[in-house]
Amino acid sequence: MDNGGFSKDLILLLWIWVFLAMIDVSKCSLGRPLIINFGDSNSDTGGVLAGTGLPIGLPHGITFFHRGTGRLGDGRLIIDFFCTGSFIDEKGFRSAVYMIDIGQNDLLMALYASNLTYEPVAKQIPSFLAEIKLAIQNIYSYGGRKFWIHNTGPLGCVPKELALHPHNKTDLDRIGCFRVHNDLAKAFNRGLRNICKEMRTILKDATIVYVDVYSIKYKLFAKYKKYGFEDPFMACCGYGGPPNNYSQKATCGQPGSTICNNVSRSIVWDGVHYTEASNRVVATTILSGRYSTPQMKLESFGEP
Ligand SMILES: *[C@@H]1O[C@H](CO)[C@@H](O)[C@H](O)[C@H]1NC(C)=O
Ligand SMILES: *[C@@H]1O[C@H](CO)[C@@H](O)[C@H](O)[C@H]1NC(C)=O
Ligand SMILES: *[C@@H]1O[C@H](CO)[C@@H](O)[C@H](O)[C@H]1NC(C)=O
Ligand SMILES: *[C@@H]1O[C@H](CO)[C@@H](O)[C@H](O)[C@H]1NC(C)=O
Repeated sequence: MDNGGFSKDLILLLWIWVFLAMIDVSKCSLGRPLIINFGDSNSDTGGVLAGTGLPIGLPHGITFFHRGTGRLGDGRLIIDFFCTGSFIDEKGFRSAVYMIDIGQNDLLMALYASNLTYEPVAKQIPSFLAEIKLAIQNIYSYGGRKFWIHNTGPLGCVPKELALHPHNKTDLDRIGCFRVHNDLAKAFNRGLRNICKEMRTILKDATIVYVDVYSIKYKLFAKYKKYGFEDPFMACCGYGGPPNNYSQKATCGQPGSTICNNVSRSIVWDGVHYTEASNRVVATTILSGRYSTPQMKLESFGEP
């Protein structure tokens, strides 16, 4: 972070903290260049720990850090891979990139409240999107010009959702994910894509990149063998065995939970959060630029 911009960034961060409750802010610094991430626990690099004092210890962290770091997962997250020197050329950045990766907590809470019915949740999507739009406008007003916006993932594919909600075949899509979750995620993403488009016409000197993380993650579940994964709907760290190895009696880290033989063959770590292995695939695919609108690479997010 450069010294001149410090207080401004701090004010922005504090303001955003107040404004976007339930959201964690993480950042990574590559010397002067900076990525500031507004995300939920999927991209959180310690905000939960810092913000609430809630300890996240082992087995979270076992694969890479060999200790609890406040991250939920066995190792590195997507943003950690972005921040790894080998992925991004430091010279690529001249100023902060504001990364936004939110939506899933809002959608899940609304889904639970509605007993998994589509309509009442769909009605709330515009208000979730309005928050994101306001956040972009406010970051812009503080000088932010580079936005990297991840859409929300296929919430209906994670073991926890499948395990917690009784369902039959008609509730699932062709690969075995909850239809209602994913239909809502897709509706949210269509709206998010439109907001990005609208913001590009209003904030003409900003670069706003929309990244279709949904498609990348869905492909992991649909073509898991191709990526070297097994049992896509089973949590690696959990309890209960097939089909999901997820039980609230013993979630990952609680007595009774066990860890699978080879974490790098699992897509999902604890039922909710992705493994280091799948985060690596997702990060690499994001960085290819193929899922970005406009098509551009994070590393080329440099001079105008
Ligand atoms: C939620 O939906 C399920 C299945 O449709 C039903 O059995 C249950 O009674 C519902 N619960 C509430 C609180 O509406
Ligand atoms: C199961 O399928 C029937 C229709 O075959 C449907 O009415 C019902 O809501 C489905 N879900 C559950 C949880 O029973
Ligand atoms: C899942 O749970 C069972 C029983 O608690 C355990 O034996 C197993 O190792 C766990 N992991 C997997 C991937 O099945
Ligand atoms: C774990 O799985 C990965 C991917 O399939 C494989 O490359 C690696 O050798 C395995 N590790 C062990 C200890 O079996």
